[in-house]
Amino acid sequence: MKSKASAPGKVILFGEHFVVYGVKAILCAINKRVTVSAEKIKEEKISIKSNIGDLLLEPNKPISEINSSLKPFYYLANKILQTQNQDIGIKINVESDIPMGVGLGSSSACCVAGAAAISKLFAEPSKEEILELAIEAEKTIFQNTSGADCTVCTYGGIMEYDKKNGFTEIKSEPSFHLVIVNSNVEHSTESVVAGVRRFKEENEGEFSKLCNYESKLVKDVSKLLKENKIKELGQKVIQNQEYLETIGISNEKLREIIRIGDKVSFGAKITGAGGGGCIFALTDELNLEHTISQFKNRNYKYFAAKIDFKGLDTF
Ligand code: MEV
Repeated sequence: MKSKASAPGKVILFGEHFVVYGVKAILCAINKRVTVSAEKIKEEKISIKSNIGDLLLEPNKPISEINSSLKPFYYLANKILQTQNQDIGIKINVESDIPMGVGLGSSSACCVAGAAAISKLFAEPSKEEILELAIEAEKTIFQNTSGADCTVCTYGGIMEYDKKNGFTEIKSEPSFHLVIVNSNVEHSTESVVAGVRRFKEENEGEFSKLCNYESKLVKDVSKLLKENKIKELGQKVIQNQEYLETIGISNEKLREIIRIGDKVSFGAKITGAGGGGCIFALTDELNLEHTISQFKNRNYKYFAAKIDFKGLDTF
């Protein structure tokens, strides 16, 4: 028996990092996907094949002993085999068109699609159950996750998210376009988030002020999204980037790309953890080609993203 699931990557439009401390963020899923297939096998092994490498291990190994970025898949397969009390193995295959390690949710999409494909070998879990399992798996590589990324990869669309209350779908379909540009600087979400924690500990007053500013900004953005006011949204993008600069997750390479984005679009900012990774430029239909050409002419890796409204898909 075989099962398959796919989940989209994501962009954090507003509120990354502050969301870890309880502030609301606004995210959307994008039209790049991870597809995971899972199969029961007779041999008591967990076998994972992917375009970033393979992993073949016996079940029941302590997760702390596994030094591989495929660890979340091992965690999921092992946990599900244990729960089912089955003396069999699981073979997993991962295919992805989400660029890895650059803030576009590739590991969250892997956790969501992995949780769905593996658990569907034994049961018919709900999206809520899959999300819970996916967040557990993500914690094996990033303990302090806010859960925002796995949530948007599960449900798709555009949403507000906060750690306490979970997500609320934003029902309007905004007409903005996103041009995503990759700085080609890989980052570790865990270490960038740890850096922000240090900033917070050393600057409690300033960080608390920034959390309040970000909360206010997200409130304004929710309204602007409903009214589809793209130009004004661009101003909020620029403002949000200033907050991200203050908490120290930017660098010269990112600023160079953002400067181009700010000139040519309504506004550009880091998306995700920062320290490297991607930025997005917010634009509209009329200006899309021109925005793209500015990055293309300078040989940046870029793509125009669409919002994915499907989220997790199983088949
Ligand atoms: C990473 O994509 C987003 C962060 O806000 C961390 C998190 O929300 O878990 C930096």
